[in-house]
Amino acid sequence: MPPTLRPRGEVTRGTTAPNRLRRVDRWIAATQARPLRSHPRPLAVDLGYGASPVTTFELYTRLRAVASNLEVVGIEIDPGRVAAGRELLARSAGPAVAGLSFRRGGFELPVPRPPVLVRAFNVLRQYGEPAAWQAWDDLTERLDPSGVLVEGTCDEIGRRAVWATLTPDGPRTITFAAHLPTLERPSTLAERLPKTLIHRNVPGEPVHDLLAAFDRCWATAAPHSAFGPRARWIEAVTLLARTHPVLTRPPYGGRTRWRLGEVTLPWTAVAPY
Ligand SMILES: C[S@@+](CC[C@H](N)C(=O)[O-])C[C@H]1O[C@@H](n2cnc3c(N)ncnc32)[C@H](O)[C@@H]1O
Repeated sequence: MPPTLRPRGEVTRGTTAPNRLRRVDRWIAATQARPLRSHPRPLAVDLGYGASPVTTFELYTRLRAVASNLEVVGIEIDPGRVAAGRELLARSAGPAVAGLSFRRGGFELPVPRPPVLVRAFNVLRQYGEPAAWQAWDDLTERLDPSGVLVEGTCDEIGRRAVWATLTPDGPRTITFAAHLPTLERPSTLAERLPKTLIHRNVPGEPVHDLLAAFDRCWATAAPHSAFGPRARWIEAVTLLARTHPVLTRPPYGGRTRWRLGEVTLPWTAVAPY
C-alpha cells in the first residue's frame, strides 16, 4: 500500500455558524457564475469547514442554484470533522445532495481534478503571515486554469467580512463587505483583513491608506444617512472611486453590489509594499 501522506496544514479551532458565510457565497454566485457554468465538470472545494459542515451544505445549495452540475467537496484536516460531515450527508442522502462529499485533507487538496473554485474562509487566520502566503501559492497552483481561490475572514455572525480572490496568476481582487446598519465606519473592517494583510494596516501601506480614505468618504457621505445606511455607503464608495481604483462595473461593482454593503477593488489597490 502507498504511504498515507499527512495532510498539509494544522488543525485549528473549528468555530463556525449557520449562514455566517452568506455574504461571500452571494458574491461568489454573482461574480463566478459564468466560469462555474461554462466548465464541463465544475468542481468546488470548501477548505476548512470547521466543527460543523453547515457552511459547506450552504455553499453547495447556493452555487448549485447557478451551476446545476457543480460538485462540491468539503475538505477538513481534522478527521472528527470529516466524520461529522459524512454523518450529516448520510442523514440527508438523496438527490438534494448529489455531488456533495467530504474528505480529509489539507492545502494539498486531495480532489480528483483541479477545482474551479476553492473557498477557504476563516482558515488562515490562525497561521502566521509567511504560512498564509505559502498557502496562497499552494492552493492557486492546484486550481483549474479558469479557477479562483476565495480566501477571507468574517466575524462570528458574518456581519463583517473581507476576502481576496486569486487565480493561478496570483491575487486579483479584494472585497470589503458589511452589515450597514451596524457599521460605525469602514476602517472597522480592518479586523477582518486576510492574514496576508492584517499586519500591513499601518501608515505608509496601501491598505491603510485605502481604509483611511474610505473613512473620510464615509464622513463626507454622512448627510446621505437620511436616506438610510445603504445610501450613505453607495455615496462613500462613489467618492472613494475618485481616488482609488474601485471596480464600478458588473459583476464586481455598481449599485447592485454596493447596495449590499460591498465594495471590490483590484488587489493592486492593497498589495503590500
Ligand atoms: C475557524 S474554522 C472555519 C470554518 C468555516 N470555514 C467558517 O468560516 O465558518 C477553521 C477550520 O479550518 C481547518 N483547517 C485549518 N487548516 C487547514 C488545512 N490546511 N486544511 C484543511 N482544513 C484546515 C481547521 O481544522 C478548522 O476546522
